[in-house]
Amino acid sequence: MCSILGYIGSGPAAPLIVEGLKRMEYRGYDSAGVATLFMDKILVKKGIGRVFEVNNEVSLDSLPGDVGIGHTRWATHGGVTSANAHPHLSSSNGIAIVHNGIIDNYQDLKRELLALGYTFKSETDSEVIANLLQRNYDVTRDFKKSMIATLSQLKGKFAFIAISKDGGLAAARFQEPLMIGIGKQSYFVSSDILGFVGNTDEAIYLENGEFAMFNSDGISISDFEGNPTKHVVTKISKEFADADKSDYVHYTLKEIYEQPTTILRAGGMTEQELDWLAALIIRSKNVYITGSGTSFNSALIGKYLFSKYARVKIEPIVSSETQFSPVYFDSNSVLIALSQSGESADVLETANIAKESGAEIVSIVNVMTSSLAHMSSISVGLNCGPEIGVAATKSFTSQMAIMYKLTEKLCGVTDARDLNLVSSQISKLLLNHSNIQKIAKELKTVSDIYVLGNGIHQYVAMEASLKLKELSYIHAEAFPGGELKHGPLALLDSNAYVVVINPNDSTYTSMLAATHEVKARGAKVIGISNIPSEIYDYWIPLPAIDEAFYPLIEIVPLQLLAYYSAIERKANPDYPRNLAKSVTVK
Ligand code: AGP
Repeated sequence: MCSILGYIGSGPAAPLIVEGLKRMEYRGYDSAGVATLFMDKILVKKGIGRVFEVNNEVSLDSLPGDVGIGHTRWATHGGVTSANAHPHLSSSNGIAIVHNGIIDNYQDLKRELLALGYTFKSETDSEVIANLLQRNYDVTRDFKKSMIATLSQLKGKFAFIAISKDGGLAAARFQEPLMIGIGKQSYFVSSDILGFVGNTDEAIYLENGEFAMFNSDGISISDFEGNPTKHVVTKISKEFADADKSDYVHYTLKEIYEQPTTILRAGGMTEQELDWLAALIIRSKNVYITGSGTSFNSALIGKYLFSKYARVKIEPIVSSETQFSPVYFDSNSVLIALSQSGESADVLETANIAKESGAEIVSIVNVMTSSLAHMSSISVGLNCGPEIGVAATKSFTSQMAIMYKLTEKLCGVTDARDLNLVSSQISKLLLNHSNIQKIAKELKTVSDIYVLGNGIHQYVAMEASLKLKELSYIHAEAFPGGELKHGPLALLDSNAYVVVINPNDSTYTSMLAATHEVKARGAKVIGISNIPSEIYDYWIPLPAIDEAFYPLIEIVPLQLLAYYSAIERKANPDYPRNLAKSVTVK
């Protein structure tokens, strides 16, 4: 959830760290801070707000020193305060750390450290790492030994980076991402490639249970017992360099507009891989599909497509609910796990439970170097490039595109319909943004929106309502059209707005009937359809297309509606309040 970044080299660390943190802010952005090592002292600056705000206020990037660490936070333990912002110093100021994850046994460790005279300034679990490292350093007088001792005492999930007043930088990874960037006479260590993209294209991915020590001579990587481990240097894919907004005002807008291209890139599997995957799904007795948030909405669409067209019975599981669900994975099971980041803790937990029970894991991920991709039997790449906007947009349509491809394979279609027409219809829809901007103006003061869809469109409605909540903070709810009369109708009056997803397919007539019920209660109707109707107060025209593909195009105007509503309401669509893109905590 948080981003961490460290640097050691022959030039000033702080400006590079501040730039890297700005690129990684999608991981958390409620506070930020930097610490550097200068003249045998650790200097720390931090504050509340986005990186640019904190930097404007306290000039993070002016800290001197060639070694440093930085952090952007998404609060878990302790409120959003300057004291809780990272980096955290040990009580003697000899060690500073930045941390991503959760230390489960921090209260026990804190009690022990307090008894030994170490003091604490924050409410965070993270601060315990600084004092524990300090304690072990005070005993061993050796930074590497103090890392080994500390790593044997910490319980939970973590990636952290530490600097010691006596020189050097250290970093460790356990179930949170961490990678090293190798520059010219310099090293970066970061939660994400975006931390150092543009400075180097060579990286080493640390494995779970490894730590690295950095000094001016180089790096050494070991397991938590201190035994050296071997690594290969990987070239970072060029597409990561694509992580800027280009001419768009926001990443979210750019990512919405990339969809005509990204749906065509989705999957990128060879025919043999597709065949293997289809055969695995067909021979498995139990097929499950999982994800969180948007990825779960894609999972529901996948379930619908597999069941309707390929007659494959498949059970969807909300990842965060697996631990409470009566799900019985076994060696005859396959779990299809969907995740943009491949790092969502809930999804990883589901995949771990399934794998331990002998199930095969098939992941559909954007970040192919992620933990989820790593633990899967096969990983299918979304290939949609970095998605920086916290709200998932292009990853959703790419996930769907893969579901369509897989469904066709499962149906035994050899000459798969290509997505080129869908892509050009999305481009046409995007040209019509001024109509959607006008509707968004109408929604400026609206407090409730209901989104209706029947059949497969109910899942698009769920995704649309998630986008409206996240981006515009409008209370939005999705229902199947036929469910209105079973309760939700009680909510409707002339203040409510109802979006009806009503393409010309087998759901059309019954959605029109539901729209009449809505209209009779005085609510305003926004109709998304390829057939105009007087019943719609606002009409978003849909291009005609093979009816199976409507979900891929109808979500696009709804993403735009959520985006423009955010703009109207002065919310920052790239960084919705209280959220983070990659939810790596439970
Ligand atoms: C989507 O707009 C959300 N920000 C969120 O629901 C997201 O889809 C969810 O956290 C899952 O993330 P993942 O796809 O990276 O696993």
